[in-house]
Amino acid sequence: MELDYDLLTRQVEALLADESDFIANAANFAAFVYHEVPALNWAGFYFPTRSGDLLLGPFNGRPACTRLPNGRGVCGASFARRETLVVDDVHAFADHIVCDSASVSEIVVPLLKEGAVYGVFDIDSPQRARFAARDRDGIERLVTVFLAHAVFPDAYRVA
Ligand code: SME
Repeated sequence: MELDYDLLTRQVEALLADESDFIANAANFAAFVYHEVPALNWAGFYFPTRSGDLLLGPFNGRPACTRLPNGRGVCGASFARRETLVVDDVHAFADHIVCDSASVSEIVVPLLKEGAVYGVFDIDSPQRARFAARDRDGIERLVTVFLAHAVFPDAYRVA
């Protein structure tokens, strides 16, 4: 059966609606996605630093790379281009940064709000080409709900 992203969207809305603290909501959002979307081995956030590196935020899964150098990796590319990137096989993406050798496919959604970018939400799967067009659409909708319930620190805003 296909994953019901309409249902997940409503559940995320209910999970986050009563809180605006972005760490609390980012932590619950990462845990929710990790447990509700099948066949993942990691789901979590990276937030920008003054140097332009991306720094690890709330996540679920195995411990991950703490800091991704400015513009590097799938996350850095998504952040710089301000667009969702789907990679069917990370071994074929030259600049992929390996945090867990079990990861094969990946989707990275930039956190775009009010004309600025505040970081990325990254999901990894041990399956090749795990993220089809409907997953991309569904995950982008889930991130949009998170963004509506996240008040970011000014330091994370990159205009
Ligand atoms: N693979 C990512 C790095 C983050 S981890 O997968 C959690 C990248 O290339 O940006």
